[in-house]
Amino acid sequence: MTRVYDDERLAGSYERGNEMPEQSLRAWIELIASHVRVPSPSLIEIGAGTGMFSAALARWVEGARVLAVDASEAMLAEARRHHPHPGVRYASGTAEEVPAPAASFDAALLSRVIHHLPDRPRAARELTRIVRPGGKVIVRTTFRERLDAVVYDYWPALRTIDASRFPGEDEVVTAFTTAGFTVDGVTSFAQPVTASLGEYHTRLVDRPPSKFTYLTPEQFHEGLGRLEAAAEREAPDRPLPVLERYDVAVFTRARA
Ligand SMILES: C[S@@+](CC[C@H](N)C(=O)[O-])C[C@H]1O[C@@H](n2cnc3c(N)ncnc32)[C@H](O)[C@@H]1O
Repeated sequence: MTRVYDDERLAGSYERGNEMPEQSLRAWIELIASHVRVPSPSLIEIGAGTGMFSAALARWVEGARVLAVDASEAMLAEARRHHPHPGVRYASGTAEEVPAPAASFDAALLSRVIHHLPDRPRAARELTRIVRPGGKVIVRTTFRERLDAVVYDYWPALRTIDASRFPGEDEVVTAFTTAGFTVDGVTSFAQPVTASLGEYHTRLVDRPPSKFTYLTPEQFHEGLGRLEAAAEREAPDRPLPVLERYDVAVFTRARA
């Protein structure tokens, strides 16, 4: 299990480093909801972090009830503080041992958590237990073979670190199909994070995302200097938008 999110300071800053414009969050919820075609669905988010997705699901998917599970008490405390919602219950638990009876959920969301799971086949088997036959698992991540974000141009060491942390598509598909899921599909797209390099630099100075905890402070500041220099060279009339790639893999729990 990851220890990094047990750090209360990291948990405290996670929300700021990962917040998303409402329009983007809404688009994500619509995408997730498009795979869950049952009224008033029972949903689970595993590795819910500070609860941004869980609360948004409860807010925008009609009648949804959400169990938001996380392995870190520090993250759960932030979630209860930032994203309380009557439709969301926050609970301590892990992907490998979910505190819920069998066949409880119409769908499970794993957003940016699959790379944290030390035993993915075991987590996939646990999902087979808790998701109803015909139910969905939606994995939101970046697979190792598509780590092509702008951030790596300025922090090349991060690419090496992430390549060892993030699983490939085949590995995840194999874990889920072996556990009893079929693959609906895997889609990949780049989402704008900021409209320019300058804006990206400002954002990282103010709110570095948690992935930078894997670098030394020196590595972080060297990369920030490279990004600042590139932002200064950016022509004001030709800003360079910064994109972030996401892969979404959708699985269906086979019917008995
Ligand atoms: C990068 S955050 C993602 C938070 C949220 N899902 C999002 O997309 O914003 C990863 C979260 O997974 C949690 N986590 C790590 N390993 C876990 C495990 N084995 N079971 C459940 N949660 C875990 C961490 O505590 C952390 O809150």
